[in-house]
Amino acid sequence: MRIGGAAFVLWAGLMSAGAAFGHGGASGIVKERMDVMSDISRNMKSMGTMLKGGSAFNPDLVIDAGDAIAAHAGDRLTALFPEGSDHAPTEASPEIWKNWSAFSASAENMKAAALALKRVAEAGEGKKEIAGAFGKLAATCKSCHEVFRIKK
Ligand code: HEC
Repeated sequence: MRIGGAAFVLWAGLMSAGAAFGHGGASGIVKERMDVMSDISRNMKSMGTMLKGGSAFNPDLVIDAGDAIAAHAGDRLTALFPEGSDHAPTEASPEIWKNWSAFSASAENMKAAALALKRVAEAGEGKKEIAGAFGKLAATCKSCHEVFRIKK
């Protein structure tokens, strides 16, 4: 079956960005949030692989991954960005602290999208509906990164 092409292009881009930049000598809170992002990324990857047919269709995997991502989102995520923590090798943009309310809203959007994805899987919807919700979640990654993450 065909699933949302755009969502996968988006997802593939996120994954390669993660692989290309890595953790390069980060420590403290910067390392901590990079690890959290990597964990989020791993969960996205296992869902993406499944949705592309690389592993068996398994709604439980989506429920668990949605939960794990939601648990890292919202206030939990913003707590990893104390003011002044924009030292090397971070990719966090100073824009975060200039526009904290938009950054927080973005972290909340990710949480809402992860929970929505989980609910679609819990409701017993098919692969197409799950792929749609997955695409919406992937879009929240991109919209935050575009503004608040510096590409190196
Ligand atoms: C609220 C904003 C925000 C959202 C939403 C967000 N990210 Fe991030 N992400 C960041 C910031 C900021 C960094 C850079 C952190 C740093 O280097 O200190 C980052 C870094 C990353 C990294 C690189 C980690 C590393 O090892 O350096 C990956 C991979 C990543 N994000 C994946 C994702 C994925 C996948 C999603 C969506 C499911 C997502 N992010 C959602 C803000 C966000």
